[in-house]
Amino acid sequence: MVAQGVRTVQDVEVEGRRVLVRVDFNVPLNAEGEVADDSRLRASLPTIQHLRSRGARVVLVSHLGRPKGKVDPRLSMRPVAARLTTLLGRSVPLAPGCVEPEVRHMVGELAPGGVLMLENVRFYPGEEANDPAFARDLASVVDLFVNDAFGVAHRAHASTVGVTQHLPSVAGLLLVRELEALGALLDPAERPFVVVLGGAKVSDKLGVIANLGRRADRLLLGGGLANTFLAACGLDLGDSLVESDMVGEARKVLDAVKDGRCCPVELPRDVVVAGDSEHSRIVPPSGVPRGWRVLDIGPRTVKEYADFIARARTVFWNGPMGVFEREEYAAGTRGVANAVADNEGLTVIGGGDTLAAVNRFGVQGRVTWASTGGGAALEFLEGRELPGLAALRRGAGT
Ligand code: 3PG
Repeated sequence: MVAQGVRTVQDVEVEGRRVLVRVDFNVPLNAEGEVADDSRLRASLPTIQHLRSRGARVVLVSHLGRPKGKVDPRLSMRPVAARLTTLLGRSVPLAPGCVEPEVRHMVGELAPGGVLMLENVRFYPGEEANDPAFARDLASVVDLFVNDAFGVAHRAHASTVGVTQHLPSVAGLLLVRELEALGALLDPAERPFVVVLGGAKVSDKLGVIANLGRRADRLLLGGGLANTFLAACGLDLGDSLVESDMVGEARKVLDAVKDGRCCPVELPRDVVVAGDSEHSRIVPPSGVPRGWRVLDIGPRTVKEYADFIARARTVFWNGPMGVFEREEYAAGTRGVANAVADNEGLTVIGGGDTLAAVNRFGVQGRVTWASTGGGAALEFLEGRELPGLAALRRGAGT
């Protein structure tokens, strides 16, 4: 199978080969230092099992957090290896590093079907610098590279790009699935195509608004992002989160709607606001009292957004509608989550907060695809070439 010009793990013989698999096991840890959410581990199990069942020797490499080239024991892959041991039902030892002689020895000793987890690759400055010598060292103990780390495909690092200079390189099954699901949104998507964007910042999503705004039928905005658009319409939002340096950009989007370069954009018609006492009120966005903050979209907006979503054949959703972690301000995000779950067309969600929201509202199994990529999914939907994918396309072949 060739996904978007990329050869996949199903195209290559792996029996007996030592296979370096780049995974994105950058997962949240709880206060005890254990894996708090193992979705990203589960998402790569099909690739790991595919390789194991065909007799490959599997060497997993990932980053965790942003240790910036220094060893930080709090960001060790140890808890990840432990959780993976549970998920696979067999021991996944943790190597003490990525390239040292002891690690090479452990890789050399791996039996067919065996799995070894390397230590956090961002403990090495050569990783983020995409240092050729570090990439060569990483590649030198294996015979094949499999990239299954969609979540980090937007980074040009040694373990996503550099290693492909030295090894035959193919995509893993998760990476393929991500490309299919997100690619279907651009392909072009079946219409009506509705895009729901929330979260704090306009700046993160301008590129997606520009690209999907040309392809979708309707953009529905919520969260802090919508506040910035409401401010661009001249409204005073009290003490609400507004990205003041992005108001001009929001105005440009609204101008693009007027002259047909962007599809219609819906903004909240009512909002939930709270002041110091935290007693909330529902007001129109033009009526936010001085010193109060917008913390969710209101019930009328939820109903309107849910109606748009119900009529869509394709939905992409990224970013909560409000402070959904607090029950008083969860109704907007819950309403969108339920509407997306009830839609029987193609529904794709992305971003850590959106995933947390669908998990919280118990609808995670009712969306077509929950992307493991945050920034990577947004950059892909901006229409940008992701370095990790470009490297596989250029790759050394098999
Ligand atoms: C993510 O969590 O989005 C990926 O693992 C990428 O992490 P990064 O933003 O630290 O590169």
